[in-house]
Amino acid sequence: MPALSPLEAAARVATLRRELEEHNRRYYQEAAPTISDQEYDRLYRELADLETQFPELASASSPTRRVGGAPLEAFAQIRHRAPMLSLDNTYSEEEVAAFFVRLEKLLPGQKIGTVIEPKVDGVAISLLYENGALQYAATRGDGTTGDDVTQNVGTIPGVPRFLKGAHIPRVLEVRGEIYLPKAQFAALNEERTAAGEPPFANPRNAAAGSLKQLDPAIVARRGLAAIFYGTGVVGGADWQTHREALAALRECGLPIHEKIWTPATLDEVLAAIHELDAVRHGFPFETDGAVIKVDSFVQREALGYTAKSPRWAMAYKYQPEQAQTRLREITVQVGRTGVLTPVAELDPVLVSGSTVSRATLHNEEEVARKDIRIGDLVVVEKAGEVIPAIVAVDPTKRTGSERVFKMPEACPACHTPVVRDAGQVAVRCVNASCPAQLKRRLEHFASRGAMDIEGLGEAMVELLVENGFTRDIADIYHLTLVKLASLPRMGAKSIANLLAGIETSKKRPLWRLIFGLGILHVGATSARALAAHFHLLDNLMAASSEELQRIPDVGPIVGPAIAQHFENPGNRAIIERLRQAGLNFGEADEPAAPAAGGKFAGTTWVITGTLSQPRETIAEEIRAHGGKVSDSVSKKTTYLLAGEEAGSKLEKAGKLGVRILSEAEFRQML
Ligand code: IVH
Repeated sequence: MPALSPLEAAARVATLRRELEEHNRRYYQEAAPTISDQEYDRLYRELADLETQFPELASASSPTRRVGGAPLEAFAQIRHRAPMLSLDNTYSEEEVAAFFVRLEKLLPGQKIGTVIEPKVDGVAISLLYENGALQYAATRGDGTTGDDVTQNVGTIPGVPRFLKGAHIPRVLEVRGEIYLPKAQFAALNEERTAAGEPPFANPRNAAAGSLKQLDPAIVARRGLAAIFYGTGVVGGADWQTHREALAALRECGLPIHEKIWTPATLDEVLAAIHELDAVRHGFPFETDGAVIKVDSFVQREALGYTAKSPRWAMAYKYQPEQAQTRLREITVQVGRTGVLTPVAELDPVLVSGSTVSRATLHNEEEVARKDIRIGDLVVVEKAGEVIPAIVAVDPTKRTGSERVFKMPEACPACHTPVVRDAGQVAVRCVNASCPAQLKRRLEHFASRGAMDIEGLGEAMVELLVENGFTRDIADIYHLTLVKLASLPRMGAKSIANLLAGIETSKKRPLWRLIFGLGILHVGATSARALAAHFHLLDNLMAASSEELQRIPDVGPIVGPAIAQHFENPGNRAIIERLRQAGLNFGEADEPAAPAAGGKFAGTTWVITGTLSQPRETIAEEIRAHGGKVSDSVSKKTTYLLAGEEAGSKLEKAGKLGVRILSEAEFRQML
């Protein structure tokens, strides 16, 4: 490429940054990339090269330094021992049949055993073990070379640092998927929304974004998991079939699928695919298909590979459940931090088991990019089976009466002119006393995840704000029986309920108060870390931005946000009024150490299967009662707490005579 003049370079750098930001947004926030990884890498490399050639153009906010909102310095590159190929995909059963016929043609007269596995919708990973010790973990990258994410993968409880068992191969390149369990995905998004950050569009994006975090402490908190389904280069093992290899991986301590199918005819293959479709929603991970693999390694060898994928495997993808409905209106919601979000108001429609009548449209650009107009017939899908999203419109059904959406120039709640932050797509209401923001702040403060004030839900907040009784969170503690009785439709019982709820909340642990304050970027997990570190709210308030950033769980974005929050005189005044009202500022907190003589003292627990809460939450409960929680079942295990879909651990516990508890029995014991 001809050398650019400094002026041309500056212009090109600006264009590349804008394009890459947009592709990042589509990839990380929408799960809807519009270019291939290779194209992205080309743009990225061009930008990185220009920044090296013209150091004066370097900038800390360049996409070469940031990914998904977090700072990113390039990860070291690792060359895979065997390339990471992809799979041929299909959505049609006819093509599965054609695949099977092809196998029969290429292996005439042979019996063809296959294995059907869930296709986990996560991030492909390759681990290398040498003599049983983990050497590295690498992402797929371009299939030949990937990012070294060893530190981050090391935080995942299911990924052993050392293999175990009597038959550890000398060299084992093992392939699998890193995923964010559905329950963790929901919790993470709840936390992000509460902290004023955009939610991830689906578990895959959340997993990918988490793996690319530079700070392994953040990765550890996200609750990623791993599952393995294949190998690359293997030395010192003589596995003849896929089933044998999977069993060996399990024996080595690597998590593998609990449920696989082993059909031997086309009819059985199709039946297995249908069965998997029926049960997959109960898996802790997101699945988007079934992978069909030839079992015998000799047969695999004979079938060989195309340039991209093996001839012995194929992925059958399930159609995501979609529904068509009418977009009646686009309303604009004002969030706790003042960000305006367009929301699609839909004719109610059933998608993946629940009725959808609203869907966030994220921002104005998203509406324009998808050309969504008010009155359109739209296609709705649940991204990651959780968040409803509009995936497309049907322009052929337009009548001409559809309207183009425009973001309002003024806040819909307080009519203050909105502000667009430089270089950001978000539009914000900057009026600190905007009633819509105030309502969201109060709702957040009182929510179950924060101060958990009974009786103070959305409707009550609305009533209090509209009547001018609460101008900030501290006003909650100045509500009286007389004031509340003056409100319309307030019965004596709900007044008593609310006042009791408010009184009880004064004793809540410090982390709940910190979370409830609604400091930008401070979610429940960071709030816990801050409370554990500072013990008293006053200590936290006195900490400098630099001091805060040195705390492992805080970092360069959250630290300054906390310091800024407490520098604000308005916020300080609110906190003083909360103190006067008698809230617990940390003095009454229980020490965090586990109860030595607790109910479960001296017992060792293993948790397996799908439970009503994330395993780590339950593990914390057990620890709080003095119990120990371990990853693997042994003779030392006292109890196995088994949820749904429990597999090998359940089997092992049965063999060893370990007492097995259901979640209900566990609750009873508590
Ligand atoms: S086998 C030679 N098995 O799907 C390819 N892949 O579209 C070997 N995936 O990159 C892949 N679940 O990230 C295989 N049970 C499974 C899988 C699976 C998910 C992913 C994997 C791969 C992609 C291919």
